[in-house]
Amino acid sequence: MRVLAIESSCDESAVAVLDEHEGLLAHELWSQIDLHRLYGGVVPELASRDHVQRLPQLLQAALEKSKTKPDQLLGIAYTAGPGLVGALLTGAALARSLALGWSVPALGIHHLEAHLLAPLLEPLAPGFPQTALLVSGGHTMLIDVRGIGDYRLLGETRDDAAGEAFDKSAKLLGLPYPGGPQLARLAEEGRPGVFDLPRPMLDRPGCEFSFSGLKTAVMLAVRAAPLTDTRRADLARAVQDAIVDTLCVKALRALDQTGHRTLVVAGGVGANRALRERLALEAGKIGVRVYYPRPEFCTDNAAMVAVAGMQRLRAGEHSPGGIGVRARWSLAELRPPGAAL
Ligand code: KG4
Ligand code: ZN
Repeated sequence: MRVLAIESSCDESAVAVLDEHEGLLAHELWSQIDLHRLYGGVVPELASRDHVQRLPQLLQAALEKSKTKPDQLLGIAYTAGPGLVGALLTGAALARSLALGWSVPALGIHHLEAHLLAPLLEPLAPGFPQTALLVSGGHTMLIDVRGIGDYRLLGETRDDAAGEAFDKSAKLLGLPYPGGPQLARLAEEGRPGVFDLPRPMLDRPGCEFSFSGLKTAVMLAVRAAPLTDTRRADLARAVQDAIVDTLCVKALRALDQTGHRTLVVAGGVGANRALRERLALEAGKIGVRVYYPRPEFCTDNAAMVAVAGMQRLRAGEHSPGGIGVRARWSLAELRPPGAAL
């Protein structure tokens, strides 16, 4: 059986088809980056309108490439939150309409659970329990993952998310939106140790993060002297080092707390090469194995929604009628697949 999955929570429109035995058969994605660049951030209304335009084409391509017929579908999984309500509604409405027309179940998926389960798409998939570092544009969390649907929050950011810290710092350095990947690229040219940026909350116990002070420090450094190419690269390096250091120290602290031997890194910032290398190195020293999705499955995509959907639809879950989406939705509310039936 197959799951058709739709993702539209923010600025990526995506559709995927996952087969229970054959694995991922198609994953189509359209990024709205060019649309929002002009405004320096995601414009919710434009995002919704673009999803409406793109999703049908992506759907058609995914069905054709995977040669999927409606009677092969176990169900349709769609991202139901958290995210931009208007954007979520476009994917939910499409999923629900197809489900109604084809008489198959539809199931709303938690976007963060999808990120957490993305490493299951890889040939060497992690087992449970695991400690997860979920780092995206909207979230920075350390989670004790005892199994699918059993998530305990160990700590999260009190203000900006790690991806937000990358993006806001990049903007201050004059880099185009979305700055995270651009800043990471520039940081490769920068020298370490030229700027000393703060690593907030490192001296405090626990697994909480705070990144808002970082952008203030970057702003002051930018204002202190003209931004030459060298200075810009050195500052980019300092930003990346500060974020990677902080994430790494707290992830190790979380592992110490849980005692797990498996660390999963998920979410858009998980695509950052410096973070991946540093975590693999540090975790390796204490006998912990690190698992990441491939970079394209770190950032938003529908393949990860299909994985979460497969787990839950197979257990008989489906969402009641109506096009329900949630802008806010805590991971702790989730239960293991089928547990709430
Ligand atoms: O998971 P995601 O695609 O969307 C959310 O659910 O938020 O994450 C997007 C975030 C953005 O802040 C982006 O700048 C950041 O991930 N990001 C990166 C890299 N690739 C994406 N940050 C640092 N280095 C990267 N290579
Ligand atoms: Zn995401």
